[in-house]
Amino acid sequence: MQTKLTEVLNIDFPMIMAPMFLVSNEAMVKAGMNSGIAATFPSLNYRNEGELEKLLDALNAAKEGPGAKGTYGINLIVQKTNPLYEKHLAICVAKKVPFYITSLGNPKQVIEEAHKYGAKVFCDVTNIEHAQKCNDLGCDGFIAVGQGAGGHAGPNTLQVLIPSLHHHFPDKIVIAAGGIAGGEGILSMLALGAAGVSVGTRFIASIEAGVSNDYKNAVVSSKMSDIVLTEKISGTPCTIINTPFAKKIGYRQNWMERMLSNNSTTKKYFKMWVQLSGMKKLEKSIHPGNYQTLWCAGQSVELIDDIASCHEIIERMKAETHEGYRKLSLQF
Ligand SMILES: Cc1cc2nc3c(=O)[nH]c(=O)nc-3n(C[C@H](O)[C@H](O)[C@H](O)COP(=O)(O)O)c2cc1C
Repeated sequence: MQTKLTEVLNIDFPMIMAPMFLVSNEAMVKAGMNSGIAATFPSLNYRNEGELEKLLDALNAAKEGPGAKGTYGINLIVQKTNPLYEKHLAICVAKKVPFYITSLGNPKQVIEEAHKYGAKVFCDVTNIEHAQKCNDLGCDGFIAVGQGAGGHAGPNTLQVLIPSLHHHFPDKIVIAAGGIAGGEGILSMLALGAAGVSVGTRFIASIEAGVSNDYKNAVVSSKMSDIVLTEKISGTPCTIINTPFAKKIGYRQNWMERMLSNNSTTKKYFKMWVQLSGMKKLEKSIHPGNYQTLWCAGQSVELIDDIASCHEIIERMKAETHEGYRKLSLQF
């Protein structure tokens, strides 16, 4: 298959394995690369001294190796509250990471640094206003994050967001994210004008994912009605499985927390504190035998029936896309 995304990233199939905090790991990224897609991970999954450099060396070697038909990219949280942002960007630039996904802030610096050596930058956007800012900064494309996506889901449906981004920014690559876990989802996004898709939740239920079987099984057994939005992890609404612990702690920040997040003197430090404590809660949740579970996942849990290897998941999605296209073309 050929789309603008396969062309610019030199991959076989227009799919990105989406970056997932605490879930993405080296084995998943390598499996994605070997299956001909673009696999990504958040730099924040590698916070210890020297870890990120070592991983990037291994991925660069794997990318040039005989099995690789795909590529890899890195997700940087470009928010002022991310204390590792500048350090991680410098490491990624030194190691010539092939492409970037930016989220939650101003991507200016990443775009400037990446373009110096020809790497591409796709910015997470949930609306046209944010896309306009990224466009003005010279990004290469957008990850359009729609309703029901795992993580910081957007408020808009992809059926409106994708064609609208396409209409406003005809030269940019638009990648659809949110609720895609099968070939029918991929086909529908290509029909809307997307150049590819970014898939997260489906890969939590993969053999390689670095989380407990309890979390993977919860993804398999949950339905879309089990997904709720909570502000308790980062301050920004985030989709999680509605576990007893999630219900117990509630979903909204209290008035004091909201006041501290909005006050100009306390804002930065309070948000940093909220994010740090949210990260700790998520970190506890991915280990086996923990009952204080905050499991991040999107509405596509409805479509996930098993835990399989990343390779198997990708090959199935490729086959479903081709089969779906064949069936659809019979109707015209
Ligand atoms: C467990 C989990 C963790 C995530 N962590 C991040 C992250 O660290 N950075 C980011 O930009 N997006 C993150 N996301 C969002 C994904 O990159 C992607 O946009 C989303 O998963 C797509 O929707 P889907 O889950 O319905 O496929 C996360 C999603 C999940 C499910």
